Amino acid sequence: MRMFNRRNFLQLTGLTATAVLGGPALAACSTPPLPGLAPTDPQADGSAFKPDLDLILKATASEVALLPGSATRVWTYAGSVVSGDPDAVQAIPGSYLGPIIRVRRGQKVRVTFTNDLPGSGQASIIHWHGLQVPAAMDGHPRDAVQPGQSFVYEFEVTDRAGTYWFHPHPHRLTAQQVVAGLAGLFIVSDDEADRVTLPSGDYDLPVVIQDRVFDGDNQFAYSPDMMTAMMGYLGNRLLVNGQPDLSLPVATRAYRLRMLNGSNSRIYKLAWSDGTPLTVIGTDDGLLDAPIDRPYVMLSPGERLEVWADLRNRAVGDELRLISQAFTGAEGIGSAGGMMGGGMMGGMMSGGAAQGIELQLATLRVERQEAETLSLPTALTPITRHRLADAVNADAPRRVVITQRNMTWKLNGRDFDMMAVADDEKVKAGTLEVWEIVNDVNPGEMMDPLGMAHPFHFHGVQFQVVSRSLSTDYPDFATGYATVSEGLVDEGWKDTVLVMPGETVQLLMRFPNNPGVYVYHCHNLEHADNGMMRNYAIEA
Ligand code: C2O
Ligand code: CU
Ligand code: CU
Repeated sequence: MRMFNRRNFLQLTGLTATAVLGGPALAACSTPPLPGLAPTDPQADGSAFKPDLDLILKATASEVALLPGSATRVWTYAGSVVSGDPDAVQAIPGSYLGPIIRVRRGQKVRVTFTNDLPGSGQASIIHWHGLQVPAAMDGHPRDAVQPGQSFVYEFEVTDRAGTYWFHPHPHRLTAQQVVAGLAGLFIVSDDEADRVTLPSGDYDLPVVIQDRVFDGDNQFAYSPDMMTAMMGYLGNRLLVNGQPDLSLPVATRAYRLRMLNGSNSRIYKLAWSDGTPLTVIGTDDGLLDAPIDRPYVMLSPGERLEVWADLRNRAVGDELRLISQAFTGAEGIGSAGGMMGGGMMGGMMSGGAAQGIELQLATLRVERQEAETLSLPTALTPITRHRLADAVNADAPRRVVITQRNMTWKLNGRDFDMMAVADDEKVKAGTLEVWEIVNDVNPGEMMDPLGMAHPFHFHGVQFQVVSRSLSTDYPDFATGYATVSEGLVDEGWKDTVLVMPGETVQLLMRFPNNPGVYVYHCHNLEHADNGMMRNYAIEA
């Protein structure tokens, strides 16, 4: 059996051509756009929707200066407020990211999304990652609209305060549209979280982490070849908040950092350069019940993390760097000595840098002395824990088994089907269920037969992680796992969870009373685009 890794696969197949993103070149993707369905009328019951906030978001082409020399052609969301708080939409000058949308729990929001991606031929649709909104408002790939068309969202924000985000979700086009620049934060506040005194305003900072490959003319390069589809896109330039080498001037204060991994497939092992522990105050869907310290924290694509960054005792002139430490085991395991062979080390592809290498992300540069009145709260917001015993299927968890067959990742042996929902993918509104995500081995597969790490995500429901267990069948599982396990934060509300090779993660989720069809998928965006996604239905 021949074994491949990222590096030698390209040499062996000659797949080194690199498409350049931006404008019509994106149409080089061989997948034809999917037909968009007409927007559904959310007010089918005849009641008038009176938005507290009425927004326009337009996906459009633009340019930003990122590197010395040519400007980079990007796609971006241009946002504006039709009615409601004019500060609800905050553009990020000089960045393709954003805008940042700020809403309060209980607000009714209308967003008119227009696909203005001229010349691209690409359908698009926005998904509100982490929000539990009605199925028709969730941005299912089948609701994607063609260039020139619009989709109107109307929903009430019912979720707890947290750092949510939005990004495109057209099937087979999500990965390249996110690389082109389409993504923004959706920050929800509420009374409960307001009772916790945390840094705010200038001391509450977004940290959106992404990676890119630039070509010789400063353009984002994206090569949707077989290798990228199989393993995921890894860049060699790190961008934070859309900026290379981000250096933030800070004061001797405490900061709230809202971190989002907006990368397609890169996983980060976040740490402070000087060994200070990371103080975690929140996860995907809001604050924890109490802060926790970790030597490092894993952040896989789609996940969020809120951190209390304490600079109170730093001196002016100090620098604190946010880094990603080296780790192993996310891919390419089962090499020499492994019973199934294969894999070897994750290597480079298309100019990208390997998964798991050490990286510099951003620098906090202490510039000003300021007196701080805040100290780290001992209690944050209460979290009601789901109990396994309360799950309707406590004795028989639903299983989602991740496998690879013929170079394609599958969920329970199935590929994505735009319309299909299998019998074992139907749940009842209001019930608490336990689901197991099982990262299985792939005997006989030539790439990564022991699997790779997958960030697993559910639309339409927030969950709690109940347990993790690691297969002991192959020693290689434990070796890699030991380099990441202390950084898995399972204490809070989540919608995306990292599942390592050989690992089974149990999730408890109560499906909201929002009947309809949602997707669940791997948030490695190349995996999702290539079919590692399924529908599930919440039934009334
Ligand atoms: Cu962040 Cu299905 O998405
Ligand atoms: Cu989502
Ligand atoms: Cu995956």
